[in-house]
Amino acid sequence: MQTDVERLYDKLKEEKKAFRKLAKRDIAVDMTRGRPSAEQLKIALPMLENAASLNFAAEGGDARNYGDLAGLKSARELFAEIFEVKPEEVIVGDGSSLEMMYFLIDCAMQFGVLGGKPWNSLQSVKFICPAPGYDRHFTICEAFGISMITVPMREDGPDMDLIEQLVSNDASIKGIWCVPKYSNPTGITYSDGTVVRMGSLRPAAKDFRVFWDNSYAVHSLYEDEKLKNIFEVAQKAGNANMVYGFTSTSKITFAGSGVAALAASEANIKDILKKLGVRKINPNKVNQLMHVAFLKDIQNIREIMKQHAAILRPKFELFETKMSAAFDDDERVKWSKPKGGYFISLDVPGIAKRTVALAAEAGVKFTAAGATFPYKMDDRDGNIRIAPSVPTLEEMDYAVDVLISAIKIATLEKDIAAIEQQ
Ligand SMILES: Cc1ncc(COP(=O)(O)O)c(C=O)c1O
Repeated sequence: MQTDVERLYDKLKEEKKAFRKLAKRDIAVDMTRGRPSAEQLKIALPMLENAASLNFAAEGGDARNYGDLAGLKSARELFAEIFEVKPEEVIVGDGSSLEMMYFLIDCAMQFGVLGGKPWNSLQSVKFICPAPGYDRHFTICEAFGISMITVPMREDGPDMDLIEQLVSNDASIKGIWCVPKYSNPTGITYSDGTVVRMGSLRPAAKDFRVFWDNSYAVHSLYEDEKLKNIFEVAQKAGNANMVYGFTSTSKITFAGSGVAALAASEANIKDILKKLGVRKINPNKVNQLMHVAFLKDIQNIREIMKQHAAILRPKFELFETKMSAAFDDDERVKWSKPKGGYFISLDVPGIAKRTVALAAEAGVKFTAAGATFPYKMDDRDGNIRIAPSVPTLEEMDYAVDVLISAIKIATLEKDIAAIEQQ
């Protein structure tokens, strides 16, 4: 009679054989970052083709010359539509919203927020970091020596009970990172209730800011999921200055060569422009003009995003189909089912690092396990961020087969170890 552990060893041998056979196909797949695919990047090419016929003088001045620190009027109007705020509450910049976030934190550290003390001069500065979350937010905190407090993400947004309690009792908590729509990496959209509670926080710190990174504002794979307007909520709650909103066209036109924007109260905008004006004279308005001519308005942006969705959706669906065929009855393997954005969040407690390492042996690269947590510390060793945008469907097919096999091997190894340690 075979013992349990012998049976598991047999299964492991079988699975490893299958894995080696699969790996012989020797396909390299990079799923580390949420980049648009080559096919998606073609969608915005007409923007460049039409550049020669742009009317640079359309807005009274000359878009090729100095001026308009806050961005072209038409660009501010366009982003105001996306943020659902007034154009005066928007600054349109250059290619990266992440850079704007970094800039605002840098300013807060050096000069303070709206007349407050520079954060650098304080004993301790902390940020709340819902996790799993976007690794680059956490990297900014680390770079500035801001302590990170991890708060769990749920189906409807981060744990608001905990956040309310934390911010109302600790004046050294100066901010929170939020990706409120099609979140990175879980893909969830904050519920109305979460947005209301977030916009109505009563922080002990007067210079507390919600960093509302709405990178995926229009990036739906299906019907658009509506996100409640936090600026309205905050205004009504007497918190008009508490929210900084961000977005960009990195995944609408060109990543890093698009246009980014921030939204905030007029008082904040005035404060930010004063600091920005020391640093630069104006953003790249020629690029802004090209973008406005191509994107036109929110309805047209939604049409453009349907072309992106048509390319992205089959990749997300392939993942879902294959994973549910392999693990539907397995309580230990869970993954999110996003309706938009760029990521799927996979949960395999205890084996994330091993799974990622195994997949790499077969040429499939995932974001490093742990990266979705502050200080890269995922106590459960459970979360893996899946970025399906870059691979072709064929590559994706291979990558998910490899992932499934890697999870099976890692699970068997863990089960064997558990029995042997008894
Ligand atoms: C949540 C989030 N914010 C910001 C960015 C970067 O945006 P940008 O290209 O505008 O700097 C990304 C890119 O993946 C992201 O996922």
